[in-house]
Amino acid sequence: MNTVTVIFPALSENEPFARSVVAAYCMRFDPTLDELSDVKTAVSEAVTNCIVHAYAGTERGDVRLECAAEGDTLHITISDSGKGIADVARAVEPFFTTLEEEERSGMGFTIMQTFMTAFEVQSRVGGGTRVTMRKRFGAPARGKGLAEEEECGAGKGTETPHKGAAPAGC
Ligand SMILES: Nc1ncnc2c1ncn2[C@@H]1O[C@H](COP(=O)(O)OP(=O)(O)OP(=O)(O)O)[C@@H](O)[C@H]1O
Ligand SMILES: [Mg+2]
Repeated sequence: MNTVTVIFPALSENEPFARSVVAAYCMRFDPTLDELSDVKTAVSEAVTNCIVHAYAGTERGDVRLECAAEGDTLHITISDSGKGIADVARAVEPFFTTLEEEERSGMGFTIMQTFMTAFEVQSRVGGGTRVTMRKRFGAPARGKGLAEEEECGAGKGTETPHKGAAPAGC
């Protein structure tokens, strides 16, 4: 696969850069404005999580962003080597946040899940977090795309969001 990898420090000033990199990569799919906006928003949430949560209270590390194209599907992986998430199932629930005092809404993972075709979180305490997402471009209707995605075991909205890694080739 034609994979582009960008590694950058987990600093808030780099979040717009990450969004722009993904937007530029998406041009090959001839995206609609809505599709482009969905992907940029999901990437923004994932990168912001690395910036805000991953290295909180520790030495700041890097964010790794990988984009790959496979037919009409964009594959994105955003990972950090930060503190990790103890309970991923809980973390992906709407409105769950560990930063209530900073008035975070706890909707980042829910937004990623909603805006992308497939979404998965893998994390290990002390070992970092990896968010893997897919976006299928040009799907004529959500229904058709969904049916196909579900066959791959990662249907949006129907699977437990932190599970469902699609087997290779889906
Ligand atoms: N990369 C990460 N490293 C460590 N913890 C994370 C990471 N991403 C998310 N989390 C944990 O998962 C929780 C939920 O994340 P989510 O993005 O849904 O909400 P939030 O970041 O708290 O709020 P919002 O995204 O609405 O500003 C976070 O509060 C945090 O505890
Ligand atoms: Mg968040």
